[in-house]
Amino acid sequence: MPKRGRLMALPPGFLEELRARTPLSVLIGRRVRLARSGRQWKGCCPFHGEKTPSFYVYDDHYHCFGCGAHGDAISYVMQAEGQSFIEAVRGLAAEAGLAVPEAGPDDAAAARATHDILAVLERAAESFQRRLFLPEGAAARAYLAGRGLTEATVRRFRLGFAPGRGALGADLARAGVTPAQMSEAGLLRAAEDGQPAREFFTGRVIFPIADRRGRVISFGGRRLDDTQTSAPKYLNGPETAVFSKRRTLYNLDRAAAAIRAGAEALVVEGYMDVIALDQAGFPGALAPLGTALGAEHLEILWRATPLPLLCFDGDEAGARAALRTIMLALPLIAPERSLEIVPLPPGEDPDTLLRRAGAEGFRAEALARRQPLITALYALTRAQFPGATPENRSAFFDALMAAAETIGHRSLAGEYRRALRDRFFAEFRPASASKRWAGGAPVRGAPLRAISPLRAAPRPGDQTRGRVLLAVLLHHPALALEVEEALGDLALPAPLIRLRDAVLAWVHAMIAKSGAPEGGLNSHPALDSPALFDHLAEIGLGAQVGEVRACAPAFAAPGAPLADVAEGWWHFFGFSHRERLGEELAAAQRDFAANPNPRTQRRLVALREAQNRLAAGDSGETRPDQDGAGDGGARGGDAAGRAEI
Ligand code: UTP
Ligand code: MN
Repeated sequence: MPKRGRLMALPPGFLEELRARTPLSVLIGRRVRLARSGRQWKGCCPFHGEKTPSFYVYDDHYHCFGCGAHGDAISYVMQAEGQSFIEAVRGLAAEAGLAVPEAGPDDAAAARATHDILAVLERAAESFQRRLFLPEGAAARAYLAGRGLTEATVRRFRLGFAPGRGALGADLARAGVTPAQMSEAGLLRAAEDGQPAREFFTGRVIFPIADRRGRVISFGGRRLDDTQTSAPKYLNGPETAVFSKRRTLYNLDRAAAAIRAGAEALVVEGYMDVIALDQAGFPGALAPLGTALGAEHLEILWRATPLPLLCFDGDEAGARAALRTIMLALPLIAPERSLEIVPLPPGEDPDTLLRRAGAEGFRAEALARRQPLITALYALTRAQFPGATPENRSAFFDALMAAAETIGHRSLAGEYRRALRDRFFAEFRPASASKRWAGGAPVRGAPLRAISPLRAAPRPGDQTRGRVLLAVLLHHPALALEVEEALGDLALPAPLIRLRDAVLAWVHAMIAKSGAPEGGLNSHPALDSPALFDHLAEIGLGAQVGEVRACAPAFAAPGAPLADVAEGWWHFFGFSHRERLGEELAAAQRDFAANPNPRTQRRLVALREAQNRLAAGDSGETRPDQDGAGDGGARGGDAAGRAEI
């Protein structure tokens, strides 16, 4: 079976290349005496006893006119040497100097499993949908009607109802779906001490979540009764083989089509906002799923449109969330891909705004106020330094420059620096004054120090913290298995993203080849730092590696116990990403609760310690981030305090 998987996993291009690089006459000529016969070769067939040659060898295949044997280099080796397909491929590849692509032997099995999970999820969607329209769905139907959704909208979004109490299990069992399959599809909540596994959604309105191709990959569920505040308002399905929150946007399939047809891409916060917008004639609406918008969401958005509009609450939490998203986006923007920010009236989300003021109201009070990224960046940063003292202005100016510095695209970064500087001077130094001050020289080139007497050490930008975190990984690649997810979410400047992705890809390739290390975080012979350096140098990242290695902190010394290195990593991560600490801590707590082991514990403890030190006013080696708001990382705005499991 694994053999078959292997066979299916090899890319066709590779086999072509292998055949092209294997001169058949040489290969066969080792065993069979061949003589030229026109453009081909001719000899006695090795597969049946014959005296007169009827076996012909061409450039890319052989054929025996006596016994009918026929094939290419690979089937020749299989037949002549009795080897399996993959053995033959490996041998020929070694001779041809080709590396056999590392596709997990389980690829085909994984593809089948994915197919099965998707089929189960589709069945589940049908069950929820059907039950919404049964008598038991009456309250849910009334709820949706009360929220202003028409029946057409309910059907368009395939909304449903989960009665719970075994209803879904019964529906799926009729289709031959086992509890194990339901579990894999994320439809069951893990059993707790002896209790049988229960359905994930009970008594909730169901929002099917589809992937880019419209296939159901998970569900969201909303409680019907907002007086029942003990239950979380929304539950999103757990991460599964087919569902990853940080790579999924609700309504992407429908919105992407609408955007192609000219609709604006509107990123909002929740399911109901998306649906209300769609119903009001804005079909390009999308939302993350109970998490803040991350780098991968942005990449997905940019595949659909160069300039998505991000809606944020007009209140303080909204401003913080907006600034955080902007900081995350800066390393990734380029002339052809950026963002616009749409501030909503304070206290409203698109759903409430539409209900109050209709589509026209949404246009006038939200869309019309859209701001280019740079305007929002300036205004939101400005709001963080309200004081009028020179110290405050200086800190504001530094924050602007530090933000511009994180832009990965070089000439765009220069434009941002100039434009932000111009805005700053326009606000604080009216033209005549600035001329006097700058002695008539163009303001643009004015030395910064002259206006920043109290300039603090520059903010350790994403560049520096990213380098430190990556440097640790370069010295201890096995750590990637523990920190991969946090690492994948890091805001990094473009060149570091390349390095990070190359490291992760290499680690995965090595693991696919030699298996994951046993028993948690252990060093692993295949994940060896010098081999990683060689690989990175080979793919042209040598210079990068040199720069990043220079940032390796003391705790990452070669030979340090991996557990200590991991603890140091998490600690530094918590410290240098205080704006995400709340979110990370919540995730670490959940992981530890679900799966208490040294790994989950280490992460939780290290992050907690970072938080305690921050709360105690210890700013580490670095000055507080402007976007951390100095609140120890507990943000009100997004996922930090949410009960989404
Ligand atoms: P909001 O609480 O802003 O809800 O959550 P909303 O969309 O306005 O909801 P309605 O209008 O009261 O129905 C926004 C998004 O955050 C996630 C969900 O994805 C939701 O759509 N969320 C919210 C959770 O994951 N869990 C929660 O408990 C609450
Ligand atoms: Mn709402």
